Amino acid sequence: MWSSCARPRHPWLSGWVLVWLVGATVTFAGEPRNEPVLPIPTCTAMDGEKVRLGKRLYHDVRLSANNAMSCATCHPLDGWGMDGIPLSTRVDGVSNTLNTPTVFNALFNIGQFWNGRVTSLEDQIEESVRVEMGSNWNDVLRKVAQDDAYRQSFARVYRGGVQAVNIRDAIAEFERSLITPNSRFDRYLRGDDQAITPLERQGYELFKKLGCVSCHQGVNLGGNLFHRSGVFTTLETGEPPGDAREQDRMAVTGASEDARVFKVPTLRNVTRTAPYFHHGDVATLEEAVMLMARGQLGRGISVAERDLLIGFLGTLEGALYGECR
Ligand code: HEC
Ligand code: HEC
Repeated sequence: MWSSCARPRHPWLSGWVLVWLVGATVTFAGEPRNEPVLPIPTCTAMDGEKVRLGKRLYHDVRLSANNAMSCATCHPLDGWGMDGIPLSTRVDGVSNTLNTPTVFNALFNIGQFWNGRVTSLEDQIEESVRVEMGSNWNDVLRKVAQDDAYRQSFARVYRGGVQAVNIRDAIAEFERSLITPNSRFDRYLRGDDQAITPLERQGYELFKKLGCVSCHQGVNLGGNLFHRSGVFTTLETGEPPGDAREQDRMAVTGASEDARVFKVPTLRNVTRTAPYFHHGDVATLEEAVMLMARGQLGRGISVAERDLLIGFLGTLEGALYGECR
C-alpha cells in the first residue's frame, strides 16, 4: 500500500514548481499526511471499570505461583512496558530465551509474542500466567476470590463474578488502554509541520528511501508482519541462547521457510526500550540500526546516516497512556 503513496521525485523539480509546491504545503498545513506510518489514536475508548480492575490484577503478585511476581515485574509501566534486561527469569528460576517486548501498543500487533503464536491478548495472558508466573487458574481464582475488594469489583463488572475468563478479560482491557499517543512524529503525521525538526524529517525520508519502512510500517512501525531476522547477515553478536531458535515462526507454522522468522518489532518508543532484538544482546540503538542496515538491507550506512535515522526514531516517543484515561 505504502509505495503507492510515495511522492515521485523529478530531477526537473525546481524554480517555480518548487515555489508552487512550497505554497501548496503551506496551504494544506494541518491536513493529515498520506504516509506508510499511521498515528496512534489519541484514545482507545475502554470500559473504565474493567480497566481499573485489570490494572490491579496486572500489578498483583498473587497471579504467580510464589506470590512474588506480577505482570509488572517484567513489564513495568514506568519502564516503558519492559524490563530493560536482555533476558528475564521466570518464577521457577528458569531464564527466558527471548527478550521481553513492551506491553505498550501491543493491542495494535497482528499477534502476540515474538513468533505471533497467539492472536488475542486474552490467550497471551493465559500463557503468561502459566509459563512466566508458574501458576494455574485454580490457585489464581482461590487467591483472587479471597479478596473482598476483588469480589465486589468483579460482581459489579461481570455477571459471573470472579472467573478465569473474566480475569483475562479485565487484564486484556487494561492492556488495550496502554497506548503512547501524541508523539512528535504523530503530530507531524496529523499535519503539524513544526512538530519535528528538518533533520528529523530527513531521518524519516532516509528511513523510507533505504527501505526500513518496508518492514517497519503501520501504526506500530512493526507488529503487522513477520520477517526473517538476518536476511543478508546474522544479527547475532554472540552465541544465540539455547532454544531461541525453536521459538521462531516455524514453531507455529511448521514451514521451513519460517525458520529464523519473527514478528517485526514495533519501533514506537524504541529509544527507550533497549536492549534490542529477540535475543536482547544488542545494548545500543546505534548498534541495532547498523545491524539492521547490514542484516536486513544488505548495505552499510555511514555514521551520519545512522544518526539521522536515530534522530527520526526519537520522534516516535509518545505520551504514556491515551487522553481518555
Ligand atoms: C518473567 C517475566 C514475564 C512476566 C512475569 C510476564 N511476561 Fe509478558 N513477556 C515476557 C517475555 C519474555 C515475552 C516474550 C515471549 C515470547 O515472545 O515468546 C513476553 C510477551 C508478552 C506480550 C507480547 C508482546 C508482543 O509484542 O509480542 C505481552 C502483551 C505480555 N507479555 C504481557 C504480559 C502480561 C499481561 C503478563 C501478566 C499476566 C505478563 N506479560 C507476564 C516476560 C514476562
Ligand atoms: C526485511 C525487514 C526489515 C527491514 C528492511 C528492517 N527491519 Fe528492523 N527489524 C526487522 C526484524 C525482523 C527485527 C527483529 C530482529 C530480531 O529480533 O532478530 C527488526 C528489529 C529492529 C530493531 C530492534 C527493535 C527491538 O525492539 O528489538 C530496530 C531498532 C530496527 N529493526 C530498526 C530498523 C531500521 C532503522 C531499518 C532500516 C535501516 C530496519 N530496521 C530495516 C525487520 C526489518
